[in-house]
Parts: sequence; C-alpha cells; structure tokens
Amino acid sequence: MSIVETSSVNPRVLAICCLYCGYAAADVAGTSQIHYPEAVRIVKVPCTGSIEDIDLLRAFEAGVDGVLIFGCPDGQCHHKQGNARAKKMVARVQTLLHRVGLGADRLEFHGLSASMGAEFAATLTDGVERIRALGHNPLGRCAPSDTTREHTAEHGAEARVAAPQH
Ligand code: FES
Repeated sequence: MSIVETSSVNPRVLAICCLYCGYAAADVAGTSQIHYPEAVRIVKVPCTGSIEDIDLLRAFEAGVDGVLIFGCPDGQCHHKQGNARAKKMVARVQTLLHRVGLGADRLEFHGLSASMGAEFAATLTDGVERIRALGHNPLGRCAPSDTTREHTAEHGAEARVAAPQH
C-alpha cells in the first residue's frame, strides 16, 4: 500500500537555482514571457554545491512535495565542482527518500546554461507534473501553513500567494 495520496491540487514544489545558470535561465523564461507552473517557489543559491543534504531533508520534513535543482551544466560550474557535489548529494538524498517510502523521484537535478529559458520552463513543467502524479508528501499534513511564491512570465515578478493546503 502506498503511503502517498494523489490529488489534483497543485503540488508544493521548490525550484532551487544557482545564481549563474539556473536562476539566469528562470529569468530568461520570465523576460521571454514563457509560462511555467504557478505555486512553484524559486530559491536562489550562489551554487548548487552550497546545498546540504539536511536542507533538502528539512524541506521534505516540512511537507514540500518535490524539489527540482537547477545548476550549471557539467564542467561549467562557476565554483568549479559545485554541480558535481550537488549531483552526489541528490543521489544520497534520493536513496533516503526511497528508503522511507516517499519516493526518489521527488528530487531531481538539472544542468542548464543561463540562456536556456525555454528549457527551464519545460523542465519545470514536466517535473511538477511528475511530482503531482506521485501525490502529496504525507509529512505535509503535519507541517504548518506556509506561503510560496508564484512565478509566471505574465507577471514578470514574484507575487506571494497562499500555498495550496492539503
Ligand atoms: Fe551553478 Fe555552481 S555556480 S552550479
């Protein structure tokens, strides 16, 4: 029996983007008015190598349904090995998510260059749909209510909205 339930309600998804590539690609998507899913919270970090395992585990413990990490492509990290470090960290946390029954597919790493706004939007859209199909993170039932940021190209800016309640 699965410990997750499926729902048509928007999943709570974090998109963690490195400053140089992932976030720049998100910016290109926004300025190009390419729509991507609402209710995705974009978090900017200096480099994906700065993300620790515990950061992701705390996010899932707080009820996030999925995390998509957008860093520089292989060999192009502005901090040399940060993206390689992040990919190893993602593999470790995926193993833990699988072992506790939440599912490894709730976490992904994608390498995109700064100009890839369309690819960012498409990857984010696909990722959100995959996470939606996995159902809500059951730990979210215990999490306090939160807010998330809605990013759409139409708005071109962040707007704070209430996170979907489970
Ligand atoms: Fe982009 Fe390191 S600066 S992943």
